Amino acid sequence: MENKFQRTHYCGEISENHIGSDVTLCGWIQTRRDHGGLIFIDLWDKEGIVQVVLNPQIDKLAHEQAQSLRGNFVIAVKGKVRARPADMVNPKLKTGKVEVYIDDLKILNKSKTPPFSAWEDAEVAEAIRLKYRYLDLRGEDLQRNLKMRYDITRVARDILHKRRFTEVETPMLTKSTPEGARDYLVPSRLNPQKFYALPQSPQLFKQILMVAGLDRYFQIVKCFRDEDLRMDRQPEFTQIDVEMSFVDEPQLFGLVEETVSAIYKEVLGIDIPVPFPVLKYKDAMARFGNDKPDLRFGLELIDVGEAVSGAEFKVFADALKAGGQVKAINVKKSAEALSRKALDDLAEVAKTYGAKGMAWIKVNPDGPQSPIVKFFKKEELDRLMGKVGGEVGDAIVFVADKPKVVADALANARLALGRQLGLIDENKICLTWITEFPLVEYDEAEKRYVALHHPFTSPFEEDLDKFETAPDQIRARAYDLVLNGNEIGGGSIRIHQKEVQERMFKLLGIGAEEAEIKFGFLLDALQYGAPPHGGIAFGLDRIAMLLAGARSIRDVIAFPKTQKAVCLMTQAPSEVDLKQMKELKLKYDLS
Ligand code: AMO
Ligand code: AMP
Repeated sequence: MENKFQRTHYCGEISENHIGSDVTLCGWIQTRRDHGGLIFIDLWDKEGIVQVVLNPQIDKLAHEQAQSLRGNFVIAVKGKVRARPADMVNPKLKTGKVEVYIDDLKILNKSKTPPFSAWEDAEVAEAIRLKYRYLDLRGEDLQRNLKMRYDITRVARDILHKRRFTEVETPMLTKSTPEGARDYLVPSRLNPQKFYALPQSPQLFKQILMVAGLDRYFQIVKCFRDEDLRMDRQPEFTQIDVEMSFVDEPQLFGLVEETVSAIYKEVLGIDIPVPFPVLKYKDAMARFGNDKPDLRFGLELIDVGEAVSGAEFKVFADALKAGGQVKAINVKKSAEALSRKALDDLAEVAKTYGAKGMAWIKVNPDGPQSPIVKFFKKEELDRLMGKVGGEVGDAIVFVADKPKVVADALANARLALGRQLGLIDENKICLTWITEFPLVEYDEAEKRYVALHHPFTSPFEEDLDKFETAPDQIRARAYDLVLNGNEIGGGSIRIHQKEVQERMFKLLGIGAEEAEIKFGFLLDALQYGAPPHGGIAFGLDRIAMLLAGARSIRDVIAFPKTQKAVCLMTQAPSEVDLKQMKELKLKYDLS
């Protein structure tokens, strides 16, 4: 049957070029204004809105029908595009020079009055927005974000295709891969009391695809991690996951730089310089206190341990005696901007990260001012000022503690200062590689070494002899890509020799038997001609969030979960029938 209302154009794309044309449009009623004789409707679809006008003199029936129209009704209209009278032109609207005079109208569906409208600028609780996600998704920002997210994947796919990668799907029902989070488990009905794990990443499959000779693999893939959620974390998120054979770091970095710069160019029209700078982990830690520094502003950390070592100030002396550090940030020209209260607030930030306090010195025209200057002799103070480059007008803040606490506290104080003092240029794009991570770190709670990246990361060959003597000095061939203080990707060159992999498991306290149970398939595969290989995974959600300028990762995911890992629209997770539980032969305790 012929559809009289077959759409000819998108609402938001009607322009002066269409003046005089007959068009058929379909969409949602955004607003409806009844001006006595004439009814004006802003008709919306994914491309935008266009004003349609119902005039009883053109079509009485359509006009009568229009009386019953309400917001969010879905309608189809036929009409003619006309230029708006000069005084009615709306320069803010893409379609603001035209309107469509309707001569036929069909209501395709009605709508209840929605709990909110994403087309209006009103404060709506996020819980309501997430429950009615389809209404929220009609808003301009989310429409744009989803489109941008798609554009990012499209550009990445194109480049990887051009560079002869093959997209391969890997299983979702699989075995645990350690990426540092808890697993989501799925019980197996056919194998009672046994569980699949949803993948934390396709890490082992992509490595095995290299053994299989695929040479270049990628996948845009969901990963699942049961961890505490934050603004930049979701329990299920998407990676652009890449693996290559016969590569080393320069080749891999080159590919990533090509992909990321193409994404910027094609999605935002921005040229970003390549190659990206490289910062070694230990330098990042020393200068910024963390391994994902925001390089859009300075405020670097300065080690003043030596400069203050002779002073009487007990807090500093004790920290140094205990093998700790004293580090400072010279907040240039901010002695005035940083009030007593601001410094107290900053100390609170430092304390959240374990510091016991935060000392400060302001360099006033009449000399340094601070509760702690009395503990310093004149020469000591001069030496300290020399070390931090203290000049009149500067404020210098200090933390003394174990290196980890100093780093955490000052890194976060640095970020707080950067924001507070307006030092962060939002238009700047600072991408950097972080390299030469330690292979392992000692976990005090577990009393064993844990992999900093994952256990399949290759050590530097020069460091192999430290496995038994100085494990925490072994450098890993791992790298992260950091964008304005966010880790947007991470990867490594892998271990491709069984013996090295076994040594690594041993170092991590994974016994031969446990290694066999958990990773036997990998150890097997490594014995059948495993090529040298390496790869990386980008956090697509984070990249989309940053490119879209979104506040939260939830704003670039169609159906995100809350901090408590709940989908408010579907109400997942939910209880299941007893019957399903029985089928799964789950042993459960209802007490
Ligand atoms: P990694 O664990 O570093 O590496 O993850 C890669 C990237 O994924 C993003 N990411 C997340 N995004 C949103 N929510 C989360 N919960 C979340 N967790 C991680 C980050 C991160 O940089 N298999 C390795 C990669 C490899 O070695 O090739 C891996 O998964 O942007
Ligand atoms: P107190 O002697 O405890 O009154 O501390 C004097 C100053 O040193 C205060 O400004 C404290 O915030 C600061 N302070 C205390 N502990 C530390 C620390 N571990 N590192 C840096 N400053 C500290």
